[in-house]
Amino acid sequence: MALFWSALAPSSAFAGTAASVSAPFLHARHAAVASDSRAASAAGVEILKAGGNAVDAACAATLALGVVNPFASGLGGGGFALIYLAKTGKATVLDFRETAPAALAGRLKDAVGLKPQSGLSVGVPGEARGLAELVRRFGALPFSRCVEPALRLARGFAVSPWLAQQIRDEIERNPTSGPDLIAKIFSVDRQIATQLRAGDRVARLALAATLERLQREGPASLYAGDTAAAIVDAVTAAGGVLAPADLAAFVPIERQPLAVDFLRRHVLTVPPPSAGGTIIVEALGILAHRVTAWKREAGPNAPDYLHNLAEALKHGFADRARFLGDPAFSRLPLAHLLDARYHRELAQRIQPDRVLAHDDYGTQMKSPTEPARDGGTAHVSVVDKTGNAVALTSTINLEFGARIVAGGIVLNDQMDDFTTATEPCGEPPSFARRVPSREGLETLPGFPCQTPVFALTGSQANRPAPGKRPVSSMSPSIVLGDRGVELVTGAAGGPRIVSATLQILIDVLAFGLDAQQAVATPRVHHQWEPDILYYEPGLPAETVKALENKGQRPTSRPDIGKANAIVRSRSGLDAAADPRSGGEAVGY
Ligand code: DON
Repeated sequence: MALFWSALAPSSAFAGTAASVSAPFLHARHAAVASDSRAASAAGVEILKAGGNAVDAACAATLALGVVNPFASGLGGGGFALIYLAKTGKATVLDFRETAPAALAGRLKDAVGLKPQSGLSVGVPGEARGLAELVRRFGALPFSRCVEPALRLARGFAVSPWLAQQIRDEIERNPTSGPDLIAKIFSVDRQIATQLRAGDRVARLALAATLERLQREGPASLYAGDTAAAIVDAVTAAGGVLAPADLAAFVPIERQPLAVDFLRRHVLTVPPPSAGGTIIVEALGILAHRVTAWKREAGPNAPDYLHNLAEALKHGFADRARFLGDPAFSRLPLAHLLDARYHRELAQRIQPDRVLAHDDYGTQMKSPTEPARDGGTAHVSVVDKTGNAVALTSTINLEFGARIVAGGIVLNDQMDDFTTATEPCGEPPSFARRVPSREGLETLPGFPCQTPVFALTGSQANRPAPGKRPVSSMSPSIVLGDRGVELVTGAAGGPRIVSATLQILIDVLAFGLDAQQAVATPRVHHQWEPDILYYEPGLPAETVKALENKGQRPTSRPDIGKANAIVRSRSGLDAAADPRSGGEAVGY
């Protein structure tokens, strides 16, 4: 243990690096839940105190988030849970990512691309079946118990400042239909909807009825019968193709976590169809080889570190673009992407004072557009008193998902994560010829095109097909060290999820920042295409200049991801929610 702590730089060395806004911070002796909402974190702790474990608590906090932050996640969406069970030392992933309705691919053949927040953009929701399965397999309490706090909240809760902001933004973006959407979600009239402010009490009565059935009858109540019919009708009325058979066919999938060793710790994260974990493993693998080049002692705002971080992200996102898709539909070259020798090779390509030519970050590319939109995802971190941990990220994609509500449920627009913007995606990329000996590469078709909103380059491997899951950026992660779970983290924010999570991992493991500093400190983001290094305004001007001198193209933007973290400290657990979203951690 002494060895472990001496491996960390003293956090006081970087005291000046944290953002001026401080993260809501908690020190707990036994257990903690961190999320984008105090009410949701409290729901998790209520379940822990009632005898539940981290899995039950993650279920309760996630369901509660879906009630109090209807713009971000909920029963209409899907996600990934990474679970670590202290007793067996085993970790596993439950993938409850939305799938494409059977008729979607056919419809897209006639369309130019997929319009986000439309009927066609709705994927088969996975959250209810995912959470129920999680609790059935790994929980300590019945699933019905973890529904309780969400049900209570659906009957009445106070609007948070962040929800009030999201409501204002929605009405500003959609002055005609926005008030109707808000009115429907909260069962109020249009005029009241436009006047909702922080502190106002609201209820979600239609959702409460759905949650009552979920509690009584389990997840089957959402995938067949009245609620399923209401979902299908609402999507059909909006021009979508979701059918009862699509709902009936949805199943969550258990998967093996990805793992990488970084600075003597074991980092666990999620596999495809999320790209987040693969990029994190690649980036940490690369950065581990360049520790001397990025000079840990200079701290997380140092240009040398941020340059190496940006270069590592570019390698990772370039590989995402070329290769990643639902593993049930394409052979993914994971053995190659996760190979430590490959990471060393990528690390050797990084130059200290310049950037590389575009194609040297893996291989290929096409035109960029500005990434946007940040509010449709929620991450929950939990550690319980016996050392179990859950990192669970769930999403309805953009703010208020597809903007379609059925049975009180806000439906996702997750099909936006397929590469559909340009048709067709084109010929096989040249990398297949450049590395023919690697597993599977030569068989992968597809010249990159992009996802509609997040402008993520992708190949044929991420084109829609019946029952297929679109590639995600969600990156729930858990770090194991000498004392079991030492860090649980994850984020919201589209592609910025990956960079935010990666930086929190590095901030804690390499720079020794505490939970609060790691979550609050200014972040950067690079996704290879477009060739822009986004940075938050808190980054010192001289750092930005130095990055420019190395050939990066820095552009300021606010809010690079919304994250939270629980970090094991000497006397318990430190937890912090993101000051960018107004969340809060709760524990005991
Ligand atoms: O799974 C994904 O990568 C996206 N659907 C996440 C969207 C997102 O994070 C939006 N805002 N926070």
